Amino acid sequence: MRYFITCYVAAVMLGGLLLLAQPKAPAKLVFSTKQGNVTFDHAAHVSRAKNDCATCHDKLFPQSKTAPLNFKASVHKTAEKAKSSCGACHTPGGVAFDSKGNCKNCHVK
Ligand code: HEC
Ligand code: HEC
Ligand code: HEC
Repeated sequence: MRYFITCYVAAVMLGGLLLLAQPKAPAKLVFSTKQGNVTFDHAAHVSRAKNDCATCHDKLFPQSKTAPLNFKASVHKTAEKAKSSCGACHTPGGVAFDSKGNCKNCHVK
């Protein structure tokens, strides 16, 4: 009996440690650019993705706010065409507004 209790306690503790080791999703991330700051509402994007982190991680972005976004080349046309980075969704005909005429949706001076 004591053996089982020990195993149970060990399993619960291990589970807790694994949860702690998981990186915490940020609420918002601010990217500063010469065009004006871009606030990325991470929480809103997560809920629109129905909490599926794999929609973006790691195929579009690593879980690091300091990693390069790779979205700025030729004023977003490169990523919009390749459907990479933010351009995976923010692209003409995509699920979200593209850059054309919508600079101020993202850039705030
Ligand atoms: C719509 C896309 C998207 C979804 C969905 C998403 N993320 Fe992110 N996440 C990002 C972007 C963009 C960054 C910043 C990447 C960069 O700066 O290169 C980021 C960064 C992060 C970071 C790093 C924060 C830091 O301080 O460095 C963590 C941790 C993270 N995400 C966790 C999660 C978790 C957990 C989920 C699921 C609950 C999730 N993300 C879902 C887009 C997303
Ligand atoms: C998985 C798809 C997806 C990716 C990747 C994505 N977005 Fe979005 N984003 C959306 C959707 C969907 C909306 C809501 C669009 C609408 O209302 O027309 C949105 C809305 C926004 C908004 C408006 C404010 C808000 O959150 O409602 C901003 C700003 C924005 N995105 C910036 C970004 C930036 C910057 C990136 C890259 C770091 C990015 N998004 C990557 C899907 C995405
Ligand atoms: C979906 C959000 C979004 C939209 C819409 C958008 N941008 Fe951006 N923009 C960003 C993000 C995020 C970055 C940073 C990208 C990176 O680091 O790769 C950026 C970077 C830039 C840069 C590089 C600035 C620097 O400091 O190097 C320029 C220039 C730029 N955008 C111009 C524009 C113009 C002009 C428009 C409208 C035609 C526009 N952007 C529309 C999100 C957006």
